[in-house]
Amino acid sequence: MDVKEAIAKRRSIRKYQRKEVSADLIREVVDAARLAPSASNAQPCRYYVIKDDETKERLKENQIFQQDFVYQAPVLIVCCSDVQSYRQGVKGWSEENEHRALRDLSIASAFLVLRATELGLATCYVGWMKKDKIKEVLDLPRSYMVPFVVAVGYGNEKPGPLPKRSMDEVLLYVDGQRK
Ligand SMILES: Cc1cc2nc3c(=O)[nH]c(=O)nc-3n(C[C@H](O)[C@H](O)[C@H](O)COP(=O)(O)O)c2cc1C
Repeated sequence: MDVKEAIAKRRSIRKYQRKEVSADLIREVVDAARLAPSASNAQPCRYYVIKDDETKERLKENQIFQQDFVYQAPVLIVCCSDVQSYRQGVKGWSEENEHRALRDLSIASAFLVLRATELGLATCYVGWMKKDKIKEVLDLPRSYMVPFVVAVGYGNEKPGPLPKRSMDEVLLYVDGQRK
């Protein structure tokens, strides 16, 4: 599968087979994220992988996610970005570093989900969650932001086509001319 195919094939999948995802495959998808670009090559992203029922149960007890499918996913990759990774500009937690950390994580996670698609895995970004509470439950450093997790498994649904904006709507300039 080439990148174009993976982009076209990827969909948000919220139903999964009861089939384990191997540790090797998880390493492969995280490796794709590891190689992504980041501002000043700061590489702020970290991935906390959850596969065990005990941790999922703790997340459930703390009502971290509002949608039940998330607890059913075989794997949850908690996507973290350390806002203290940037040497330039304001140190520590600032609005600018928050933007940097979020940008870098968004790009890296896109690599992750596309590689997962290539490997035959289904994914779904989950941003609807208690973002501070999950840090507490997983005992993550204070300097990490956790804007979303990615649920991963073998898909058990085939969603129909979704309306996407046309090229005419999204492409503002082409060949130096405003359309
Ligand atoms: C940053 C982000 C957060 C998302 N959060 C959720 C979520 O909390 N729950 C959910 O069911 N889907 C979530 N989604 C999935 C979107 O609903 C989905 O990408 C969108 O409807 C387009 O569908 P597609 O991914 O199949 O193209 C999220 C997607 C992104 C990019």
